[in-house]
Amino acid sequence: MSELYDVVVIGAGPGGYVCAIKAAQLGLKVACIEKRDTLGGTCLNVGCIPSKALLHASEVYHQAEKVMGKFGVKTSGVSLDLPAMMAHKNKTVGDLTKGIAFLFKKNGVTPFYGSGEITAPDTVKVALNAGGEQEIKAKNIVIATGSDVISLPGVEIDEETVVSSTGAIKLPAVPKKMIVIGGGVIGLEMGSVWSRLGAEVTVIEYLDRILPGTDGELAKSFQKTLEKQNIKFKLSTKVTSVTKKDGGCVVEVEPANGGDKETLSADVTLVSVGRKPYTDGLGLEKANIPRDNKGRVEIDDRFRTAHKNIYAIGDAVRGAMLAHKAEDEGVAVAEIIAGQHPHINYDAIPNVIYTWPELSSVGHTEEDLKAQNIPYKIGKFSFAANGRAKAGLNDEGFIKILSHKETDRVLGAHMIGPDVGNMISEAAMAIEFKASAEDIARTCHAHPTTAETFKEAAIAAAFGKALHS
Ligand code: NAI
Repeated sequence: MSELYDVVVIGAGPGGYVCAIKAAQLGLKVACIEKRDTLGGTCLNVGCIPSKALLHASEVYHQAEKVMGKFGVKTSGVSLDLPAMMAHKNKTVGDLTKGIAFLFKKNGVTPFYGSGEITAPDTVKVALNAGGEQEIKAKNIVIATGSDVISLPGVEIDEETVVSSTGAIKLPAVPKKMIVIGGGVIGLEMGSVWSRLGAEVTVIEYLDRILPGTDGELAKSFQKTLEKQNIKFKLSTKVTSVTKKDGGCVVEVEPANGGDKETLSADVTLVSVGRKPYTDGLGLEKANIPRDNKGRVEIDDRFRTAHKNIYAIGDAVRGAMLAHKAEDEGVAVAEIIAGQHPHINYDAIPNVIYTWPELSSVGHTEEDLKAQNIPYKIGKFSFAANGRAKAGLNDEGFIKILSHKETDRVLGAHMIGPDVGNMISEAAMAIEFKASAEDIARTCHAHPTTAETFKEAAIAAAFGKALHS
């Protein structure tokens, strides 16, 4: 007779492992199944963390090559040691995945390494990586299997010349030319990395703008910033084929609305046109757990699937495919199973693109507010007028706060600038606490900090004019 768990979580990404730890902290007996040999999912192993290690390292290289001289720091013989940069990335990933294994041990979560399949509403069968099978019985099952790369029809990703984000974080050499298909988050982050390291990067985007869903003004301004960094853009352009040739690739494109074809060549092509929920082999059909037309597991407002003791969270369900959204859902499900009544405010989930400068946003965009006929005010302030940003040669970008025209309640915040990935938490907190722009304007911000730009934008939204303008 196998042991009976209170909760078995399938998938140890940010949604699953956080859910497992929280459930254990709430006194439940928890198992977590992971098909990789290390914990942390896409985010830690091949996504957020390795890409951030490379984004940071490549920015340091760029600073040493192009910026340090402007501060009076003379450098000579700056050169790239790509294997050492990759070793830094690999060590970061290794340390953090081991850290989760340590947290599992500390909190009493039992890991099982293998692929899980739901065979009954209280049973998951695991095909163990080490060989053999194990049946796990649990009162509750949480599906946290994440998402997988999407390719284009007829385009085969070999992770060498035609790569997804997984191949783009481990290229053995800097490509001379790189084509990025898709002007979304992955395309712009990985395009930035390889551009800073010396690649000629061209981003091909099907729509007439980059970053669909992001505030339009911000996206336009961000594109200009990236163009100044030598990244080229081809918007309203459709890729019709990608063919491998002479160790590189040939990409055929045509205008999205029809027109003459053009042929581009590159050493490496990155396909970054989105991700799809990963629910293969889970036994959902046999278990009668429906998915929607995008392949996402259908859930109710308590994260329950068609079976009230089987839950699903993160990239496998509706909503933004973001690690922090998955984490919050993992915590919420653990609390629900433990009998609590948590709530997630989906209007307060921030988005960050970790280029330099960074782009971040939370809450409604102007486009959203117009579509919903919500009256709003705009407060804007530029980093060019911020002392700390100037002193650090980091004065590109601006902050825009949108507040309700009558109540002044903060509805959205959108930022391009230095470290705005951290600063956006202040705006998320304002939305969560239902603050007005005036509340932010009257909150003392330390001087000199780049966060004063946020305060100035709030002053502009609340009173119609910023102080330093
Ligand atoms: P995405 O959805 O962000 O962007 C895909 C882009 O490709 C869109 O601009 C879309 O219009 C374009 N596109 C789609 N089909 C195309 C075609 N045939 N030709 C040209 N362009 C085409 O997807 P991405 O960048 O692949 O990222 C996947 C997921 O991972 C996203 O949900 C993202 O939020 C998440 N992610 C988040 C990160 C972060 O928070 N910093 C970092 C990396 C990924």
